[in-house]
Amino acid sequence: MSTFVFFFKIHMEQVSRYTVTAALIYANGPIHIGHLAGCYLPADIYVRYLRASGKDVIFVSGTDEHGVPITIKAKKEGIQPQQVVDKYYTQIKSSFEEFGISFDIYSRTSKPAHHKVSQDFFLKLHEKGDFVEEVTEQYFDEKAGQFLADRYIMGTCPHCGNENAYGDQCEKCGSTLSPMELIQPRSTLSGEKPVLKKTKNWYLPLDRMQPSIEKFVTSHPEWKVNVAGQCQSWLKQGLQPRAMTRDLEWGVQVPLRDTEGKVLYVWFDAPIGYITFTQELFEQHEAFKGKSWEPYWKASDTKLVHFIGKDNIVFHCIIFPAMLMAEGSYILPDNVPANEFMNLEGDKISTSRNWAVWLHEYLQEFPGKQDMLRYALCANAPETRDNDFTWKDFQARNNNELAASFGNFMNRVFTLIDKNFDSKVPVVSSFTDLDKEVLQKLSNLPARIAASIEQYRFREAQSLMIEVAKLGDKYFADTEPWKVLKTDRDRAATILHVAAQIAATLSIVAEPFIPFTASKLHQALGLQNPVWAWAGKSDLLTPGSLLKNPGILFEKIEDAVIDAQVQKLMDAKKANELASATLEPAKDPVSYEDFVKMDIRVATIQAAEKVAKTKKLLKLTLDTGIDQRTVVSGIAEYYEPEQIIGRQVCLLANLAPREIKGIMSQGMILMAQEKDGSLRFIQPETLVSPGGTIS
Ligand code: MF3
Ligand code: ZN
Repeated sequence: MSTFVFFFKIHMEQVSRYTVTAALIYANGPIHIGHLAGCYLPADIYVRYLRASGKDVIFVSGTDEHGVPITIKAKKEGIQPQQVVDKYYTQIKSSFEEFGISFDIYSRTSKPAHHKVSQDFFLKLHEKGDFVEEVTEQYFDEKAGQFLADRYIMGTCPHCGNENAYGDQCEKCGSTLSPMELIQPRSTLSGEKPVLKKTKNWYLPLDRMQPSIEKFVTSHPEWKVNVAGQCQSWLKQGLQPRAMTRDLEWGVQVPLRDTEGKVLYVWFDAPIGYITFTQELFEQHEAFKGKSWEPYWKASDTKLVHFIGKDNIVFHCIIFPAMLMAEGSYILPDNVPANEFMNLEGDKISTSRNWAVWLHEYLQEFPGKQDMLRYALCANAPETRDNDFTWKDFQARNNNELAASFGNFMNRVFTLIDKNFDSKVPVVSSFTDLDKEVLQKLSNLPARIAASIEQYRFREAQSLMIEVAKLGDKYFADTEPWKVLKTDRDRAATILHVAAQIAATLSIVAEPFIPFTASKLHQALGLQNPVWAWAGKSDLLTPGSLLKNPGILFEKIEDAVIDAQVQKLMDAKKANELASATLEPAKDPVSYEDFVKMDIRVATIQAAEKVAKTKKLLKLTLDTGIDQRTVVSGIAEYYEPEQIIGRQVCLLANLAPREIKGIMSQGMILMAQEKDGSLRFIQPETLVSPGGTIS
């Protein structure tokens, strides 16, 4: 046993209960696969495994309903912040439910109880003298009559010159900024230049707390490299005092006198939500009533684990622990297994660019296929670095691993037993060496899966789960019971008995990953409330017990379905490019005299052909009413020659003739340009005699 494993075992044994949290996502938009892969799916796998292992665990999450992201959305939609969060809380909660994310409670920070708990937390720190009060100059928008949150200030990035950098970050070069660093700041509320105005706020002196925070962080050498790396870089730069109150309207009121217009910093109140929601769980949910919430946050034998995405690392590893330390009565997180980001088809997922796979849309387009997405996302989870979701990979995972391996094995077990043994688990005559070897391998896998899960290596854990299916597949290939049935019924019975035991273990170890399928299988196999400890045993199913074939578990996904999804993304990209393309600025005025110099008239296309060796040019023959002439036009990407014969167009007829690719072009066809640069004819509303002038 390596020292690491040894340390790990000892550590595990001291744990009596688990408090598992998943980030409180802002309730300002629907959720997508990136959220699921980065945070909620690993959290759910972990919790489902712990529950199956008989551990005392609570799984807590909800929506973050304060902060500037909410007010920005409200402003954009012209509604109140409360309306924004009401809408998205409901939608987000239901998407999670549909995907089987098995929270014990999913609540929200706009509830009065949460306001009270976070205010009390603030007051306790205030009374203990943990805050530093400081008057500073902050940007104020005189026209809008309010202080400006970092996100409400834009200006030029001092690092890369991007003119649209935000007060907290430049999205072009990725630098973290403070509003004071922006060159030529402007308010996004009014567009005006903000002025500096004095205001008092309450700061958590992270600088003074650095030694204890450092001690805490370094006491966790087992944290993931990506997490430890971010912590080290913050600590190395030296922590700065951080304001825990802000001059904003929307949020939890600061519970002190003369603080109108000030609220708690959203990153102060939001993580306290984990505590509030735990209290709510024990007060309001039947299964927990009568028990105390406090051990889950205050007992040293509780293991507190925060699942988050990488943009939340500093808040969960440094700022929230600092708050908890200052308060004094709480435990600190044991681990913060943050993931990196999931990209989509080679590009960063973006809500504003609609480059995402939205969960509520997936549910409509792939009803009943939640496990397939869970599986593909876990297989590709961005555990150590950013990773990419592609529809092709989704299809391959489903077709090759779930359908061909897992599903096919299960299907064979059930149908062979249905047909040949009256759907009853067959009786063993005697095990061969191969049987014993396979059962031995089977008995080892669950512990390996468990170890991977306990070390937050969910991809590895899931692939070990598939190993169980592959073990079954290979056993069938080696023993060929469908052939043996014809010659040696007893031997075939033994083989199918062994296969059924493999299926039973598979159904247990699959549950954290693909819970919908697992639950179908538990019913089919007659396993009632199976626990993890059963997995790997060779006598899970009693001979003679009845099996109920669940039918096909995973259908293959056809190319056309995948192509349609890729097309949908391409359409979204196109629509977004159109929406964000800028129009040409207005031109300088011209005199009427200059305008009438142009001879613009209606002409009819009589003939059209491609200009050889060019992609863009068509040679057109036009009837202009006054003559017949040739014009070369750059429209070949938008029109086929044969489509446009007989069409009427607008011609600038007195443009000086010009030779293009050896052809004399006598005039120019006027075209309307779409934002993406594509061209369209301008045509009279009804037919006009050729030569009619346009003015
Ligand atoms: N609302 C934040 C986000 O979506 C996460 C808050 S997590 C909490 O990035 F701990 F503060 F609640
Ligand atoms: Zn920049």
